[in-house]
Amino acid sequence: MNKDRKLIIAGNWKMNKTVAESLDLVRGLKIELANIKEVDIVICPPFTALSEVSKAILDSNIRLGAQNMSEHNVGAYTGEIAAVMLKEFSVRYVILGHSERRQYQKESNELIAKKAAAVHAASLKPIVCVGETLAEREAGKTNQVLETQVRGSLVGLSKDQITESIIAYEPVWAIGTGKTATTEQAQEAHAFIRRVLVSMFDETVARRVRIQYGGSVKPSNARELMSQPDVDGALVGGASLEARSFADIIKNSI
Ligand code: 13P
Repeated sequence: MNKDRKLIIAGNWKMNKTVAESLDLVRGLKIELANIKEVDIVICPPFTALSEVSKAILDSNIRLGAQNMSEHNVGAYTGEIAAVMLKEFSVRYVILGHSERRQYQKESNELIAKKAAAVHAASLKPIVCVGETLAEREAGKTNQVLETQVRGSLVGLSKDQITESIIAYEPVWAIGTGKTATTEQAQEAHAFIRRVLVSMFDETVARRVRIQYGGSVKPSNARELMSQPDVDGALVGGASLEARSFADIIKNSI
């Protein structure tokens, strides 16, 4: 793979897996993925499994991510989780602004930007999700939506912070539907996002930011997607819930 950005492939387990099921999956992943160094491998279990999973991956090449985080540091925010709590379990990455949270929890770009600032303040790395709905794509508004989300969700970050951030392009119509964006659609959206980064920051910064594709990634389409010049990894939902399929996505991407 001839890219100067290291691939990063993350599994977003969403609201799946008890602690026992999580440990089972991790056991399989450690066997399947041992010795892979070419890709940054991240798993994002539910909060309730972070403690046990964090211990189980200590001696491995798998890093830990969380699926959300509060923009606040501490205090009266019932049901929220702060950065310092995630750091207790050696969490390194935090998914922010997933389309499911934008839709069901009504998360705005403004809120996501506050969360991204809090993630960086804690020296963690955000995986900031953006993506258009089917209606927006069909109305020819994809670029407009992506630009608004990228600018709004990353506003206020420094050049150093954006370089350490990951962006996940997840077309909403491709999530959990079995409909993957074509490689051309993915490459086009990724290249556009990178152009927005050039205009927000500069060429050097934009060249360094890793942009993942998410939406029905599976072992059979991973290689083609990852071979696109601006696709630097994947954010995998359903296929990350089983050791063999997540491992095969990673192996097929190298
Ligand atoms: P699927 O891989 O199940 O389509 O989910 C993608 C996703 O939302 C990852 O965050």
